[in-house]
Amino acid sequence: MFAVKGTFFDTPSPDALRMREGYLVVDNGRIRCFCETLPLELRCIEVLDYTGKMIVPGMSDLHLHASQYRYTGTAMDVALIDWLSNYAYPEEARYADPDYAARLYGAFTQDLLHTSTTRSCIFATIHTDATLILQDLLEQSGMVAYVGKLNIDRNSPDYYREASPEAGMAETIRWILTSRSRGYQYALPMITPRFTPSVTDEYMRRLGEAAAEYGLPMQSHISENTDEIAWVKALCPDTSYYYETYSRYGLFGGTTPTVMAHCIYSSPEECRVMKEQNVFIAHCPTSNENVIAGIAPAAMYLREGYHVGLGSDIAGGHTLNLFAVMAAAVQMSKLRWKFLSSDYAPLSIIEAFYMATVGGGRFFGKVGLFEPGYEFDAAVLNEPVNHSVIDLRPEERLEIYAYRGDGKAEAKFVSGRKIL
Ligand code: GUN
Ligand code: FE
Repeated sequence: MFAVKGTFFDTPSPDALRMREGYLVVDNGRIRCFCETLPLELRCIEVLDYTGKMIVPGMSDLHLHASQYRYTGTAMDVALIDWLSNYAYPEEARYADPDYAARLYGAFTQDLLHTSTTRSCIFATIHTDATLILQDLLEQSGMVAYVGKLNIDRNSPDYYREASPEAGMAETIRWILTSRSRGYQYALPMITPRFTPSVTDEYMRRLGEAAAEYGLPMQSHISENTDEIAWVKALCPDTSYYYETYSRYGLFGGTTPTVMAHCIYSSPEECRVMKEQNVFIAHCPTSNENVIAGIAPAAMYLREGYHVGLGSDIAGGHTLNLFAVMAAAVQMSKLRWKFLSSDYAPLSIIEAFYMATVGGGRFFGKVGLFEPGYEFDAAVLNEPVNHSVIDLRPEERLEIYAYRGDGKAEAKFVSGRKIL
């Protein structure tokens, strides 16, 4: 048992920011209680003292591509489909080389470790060995992550495609079994068909069977771009909606926990099924602007009770810092409200914070709040301004951090373990 002392910010509901100064007592990885002063019987426990520092729940990044780390912040000149062909596929193909993978994934893991993110859902590449290297690195870091070896057997260049559903499945099973035999506690496998245009019906069907057989969650992309949606319709003429290309194989929520990135153009029917099947939406506003995808109805998703969290989606997104992604979520929601549809008022920074913490954290269990029983995931931050001199309200401190903070954690805890 130990206690952390500081100023704790969290969101018990999407419209309520709570700021408390005092001690959070952590027992066996979980929060036992909050108290302003330590009661007598707890005076002997170790106290980690961050007096005056802003401490936030560890954030959950529901969607990012570790294999696109090298070109994060570049390649901003084209929309999605050309961006995949010109940048994503050639770069991801380089991970056939384990030395390259070890070097780049090592740099990626260090970078992620220093952000406020404690949990994430990560796309790797089609390469089993490189994906296992990434899992090794993440496992050593102590962060919790679901990691996906990608499945791709059509519509990408020969140099970056699996030869057949059989060949792809053989590698996927080898990857699942190796992950098991290595006994990873934190870097767990997640079934990851890149998106429907990349995966034949037969391969998708077998991936659905594997998710059920091995009890694995799944992640993919959906309804990100209008050209992509038209392409899916042409590739799967026997479906009426994009989501059916996943759901008909058991890969859309329900008993298979699912994260779907983007959901920008999801039809009312697709939305209905996402909600009914508890599909988690990864809202990726920085990526959506960079690859000219569109503006997702994130305020609607949050206020209508969908499961929605944030994703950095590097390298579509240009930063791993989820505070910057929060600010972008607010900015994009304003553009949507002003120029597309005035149905839902723009997101507040508190709602964006809720998505980054509670919204995404739910995918991992009781994560994202400083409440008794929740896993103690937290990041200690250095604020860019001295709030005591310029007299800021809690909401202003949060907002200033989102817009002006560097996103670098000074200390970080995952499930009660200090990992930074
Ligand atoms: N759709 C399929 N692959 C990708 C990818 O790598 N990034 C994004 N943003 N969308 C995708
Ligand atoms: Fe993506």
